[in-house]
Amino acid sequence: MKKRIKLEDDSKNHIIYVGDCLEHLDNIKDNSCKLIFADPPYNMGKDFGNNHDKWKTPLNYRNWCIMWIKKCIKKLTSDGSIMIMGHPRFSSYLVPYLDKELVYTNQIVYYYTDGMPEKKNFERRYELILYYRKNKDKYVFNIDDVRVPLIRYDKMSNKRGKNPNDVWQINRVRWNSKERMSLPNGKIAHAAQKPLRLMRRIILATTNKGDLILDPFLGTGTTSVAAKELGRKSIGIELNPKYAKMSLNRINKTKVLDKGLEYEER
Ligand SMILES: C[S@@+](CC[C@H](N)C(=O)[O-])C[C@H]1O[C@@H](n2cnc3c(N)ncnc32)[C@H](O)[C@@H]1O
Repeated sequence: MKKRIKLEDDSKNHIIYVGDCLEHLDNIKDNSCKLIFADPPYNMGKDFGNNHDKWKTPLNYRNWCIMWIKKCIKKLTSDGSIMIMGHPRFSSYLVPYLDKELVYTNQIVYYYTDGMPEKKNFERRYELILYYRKNKDKYVFNIDDVRVPLIRYDKMSNKRGKNPNDVWQINRVRWNSKERMSLPNGKIAHAAQKPLRLMRRIILATTNKGDLILDPFLGTGTTSVAAKELGRKSIGIELNPKYAKMSLNRINKTKVLDKGLEYEER
């Protein structure tokens, strides 16, 4: 039997399993996670140091995703939510399965203004987040914690702002962003690091303090970092041991926030 590599942060509230999520997911307690956020390889051929980002056909990719999604669903609490990020083309292959197994909630468009230049077609500037719940009537949705400012307030307006709707414009983590994880030689450490702001919004909306969040594709640890800031617990799984260690250091350097976040931080 393979040895399970488990890392734990100083507070003992954040665990990282190093290895394939298909193996590690079986060791997580059923019905324990309020939120599962999955940002898997997108089937785009990106280099994560493990050659796990290209499948022969979109259907092969879908079949692999269904294997880990099936295991994830078992881990969700009865009022839990799952969000799955991906390239819109390949994400669409997952929709029929998710519609069958869970309660459709939203397809969130994560929109940004910079990216790869294209000459032969329109440039892609969005990724999809498929948002599903386990239960139609029982779920966490803290809309007041994620409201965004209104341009103009009147007597009828909610003073806390408006619903952020399903198109989220959030800047990507650029090469010179403060939160960008770098290697000792200054090079970008990871090809797909997600913004903390994105993760904070997701976590604030779908969980409460003390809840457990699972990320089966942890990468640089963004989900666990946002979870720690916001007083939640987390389990992450990461195939590449270098990213797993980097995530652990990043979590350990993160402080629990003692005040609410400004609008532009979530
Ligand atoms: C899109 S990235 C996640 C980025 C992450 N959200 C962040 O903010 O840094 C996908 C990650 O999944 C990891 N990965 C790929 N296959 C995996 C598997 N079978 N089990 C666990 N992790 C895997 C890759 O090494 C990569 O770091």
